[in-house]
Amino acid sequence: MHGDGAPLERLALPRFKLLFRRLPMNTRSESRAKPGQDRSPFNFSGGSVIAAVAAGAALALAGNFGRKLAVQGLSASKGDWSESLAAEHTAVEKLFDAMLATDDGDKYKRALLLTQLSHALDKHAYAEEHVIYPKLRETGDESFAEHLENDHGAVKEFLYRLSKMSSEDPAWRETVGAFRNVVLLHAEEEEKQIFPALRAKLSDDDNARLTKDVNKAGFWAA
Ligand SMILES: [Fe+2]
Ligand SMILES: [Fe+2]
Repeated sequence: MHGDGAPLERLALPRFKLLFRRLPMNTRSESRAKPGQDRSPFNFSGGSVIAAVAAGAALALAGNFGRKLAVQGLSASKGDWSESLAAEHTAVEKLFDAMLATDDGDKYKRALLLTQLSHALDKHAYAEEHVIYPKLRETGDESFAEHLENDHGAVKEFLYRLSKMSSEDPAWRETVGAFRNVVLLHAEEEEKQIFPALRAKLSDDDNARLTKDVNKAGFWAA
């Protein structure tokens, strides 16, 4: 309490009001006091940074979802599970042919095609190994499943060898040619013998479920 009994804040308030009234209107401190009015691109508030990161992540997710949808949609559009897997075999064969059509100096083209081949084979193998080969085992064809899985092991070895080999290596073309033969023999066995036999064993509903599962696995791996 002061001498006249007035509360302290009532005495102090007029002085502060006076002080602020004397300050010029466009000081830096005043503009900082209203962050919404500061148009500096570097003046982020915590909330705007989080919003920007969240928006970026959402865009990246949407982009990745669209890409996966486009890649798997192309396979799925070919028909049932055996037809869509056969279409992927054809796409892989085209990539091999494009690789073998390159010249020794096409370093970047060879690197790009190898990346595409690797991605296509990985995606394809994921769907077969997670859906089709387990189904082969479930229906009593363990030996087929084991044989096909061994082939996939050889595919991974070839991919590894090529990833470590310079595309200018004189053995590059020969290695790609041997790799192509292994993959095409495997694909032919699947398409002409093993897949039709499995398909015939299953009911229409089971085949429809298998198609759904192959598409799901392909989308996941794309
Ligand atoms: Fe396979
Ligand atoms: Fe296959």
